[in-house]
Amino acid sequence: KTIADLGDLTGRRVLVRSDLNVPLDDGGAITDDGRVRASVPTIKELASQGARVIVTAHLGRPKGVPEEKYSLKPVASRLEELLGQPVAFATDTVGESAREAVEALEDGQVLLLENLRFNKGETAKTAEERREFAEQLASLADAYVSDGFGVVHREQASVFDITKLLPSAAGGLVQSEVEVLRRLTEDPQRPYAVVLGGAKVSDKLGVIDNLLGKADRLLIGGGMVFTFLKAQGHEVGKSLLEEDQLDVVRGYLKTAEETGVEIVLPTDIVAATEFSADADHEVVPADQIPADRMGLDIGPDSARLFAEKLADAKTVFWNGPMGAFEMQPYAAGTEAVARALVDITASHGALTVVGGGDSAAAVRQFGHSDDEFGHISTGGGASLEFLEGKTLPGLLVLED
Ligand code: 3PG
Repeated sequence: KTIADLGDLTGRRVLVRSDLNVPLDDGGAITDDGRVRASVPTIKELASQGARVIVTAHLGRPKGVPEEKYSLKPVASRLEELLGQPVAFATDTVGESAREAVEALEDGQVLLLENLRFNKGETAKTAEERREFAEQLASLADAYVSDGFGVVHREQASVFDITKLLPSAAGGLVQSEVEVLRRLTEDPQRPYAVVLGGAKVSDKLGVIDNLLGKADRLLIGGGMVFTFLKAQGHEVGKSLLEEDQLDVVRGYLKTAEETGVEIVLPTDIVAATEFSADADHEVVPADQIPADRMGLDIGPDSARLFAEKLADAKTVFWNGPMGAFEMQPYAAGTEAVARALVDITASHGALTVVGGGDSAAAVRQFGHSDDEFGHISTGGGASLEFLEGKTLPGLLVLED
């Protein structure tokens, strides 16, 4: 169901669930506004149809009570700039401030409610506990639009339970994300390469399981790679290591060999004495990481190897940075992958999809614009779970 299925929206109160979970610096300034920008078209569309638009979202993981550092107030200002129209802000989510602000809304106006997760009911484990909060939210509106693709994997009140209480539809962002990610799962153009990084193998188990049967090449970097190197019998010094995943990883290496999927691991590593930009660091062979050092990026040979392995790919999914890219000495590996994706998008129109907040923030940090890639997903966990083939609560209800 799409917005058109909701009928005439003039004068109706429409509650939009967006994903405005953006990174903030210590001073509370937004460091990557990609998710806010991606949320604008649906909000604009609803406002232009004369709806009274109530935007609702979360920021961070507060534990069900208000916390100043997780306030959505700075996001309201950014949304206002990007929309080019005033955005009212309610200092609570379903309390007096929200009710008064909804009451004051006129056709075509926009309101942002304070962080959903300042309310225990939003993320409560049982449906009964979530229900009461979902009812309070639903009482503010006449219709619901699910546009926060980054949260569709969460069975939470504003994503899942509310759809049982209001006429509901998917917004344009959710629709376009689903369309692109489907192209990765249904008959992708080959060669199909997947680049995985980030800290933990355990976050990626489901997607690796699923992709071992579908992708042609799996390129691995980031903190998770040290569990792969260790599983191959190499010492990894002080690098991140998940001992409890070693058997699982050995299983992946075996399955890959049996099924003909190529697993590409780095050949060299930037190894530092500690997790700091000023730490002493050097490039070492991947199988010779000194005992007193930790790997913080893939090395230059690996960056070349990864670029080569991506050069002829027609479909690429990338999730997770290759190193601690936010510190300049460890950014080159991630930068090389970003560059390789930009090159193949331009040279032969490869479908290149970047998923995950960190990877998206990284490509923007390197100065790339979103349109140099096939698609930059607003979903981290959501895009991974989609590729795992899981049923996502926020999508299921909309198809019902
Ligand atoms: C994300 O950052 O991936 C989404 O906003 C979901 O946030 P969560 O992992 O805290 O539910």
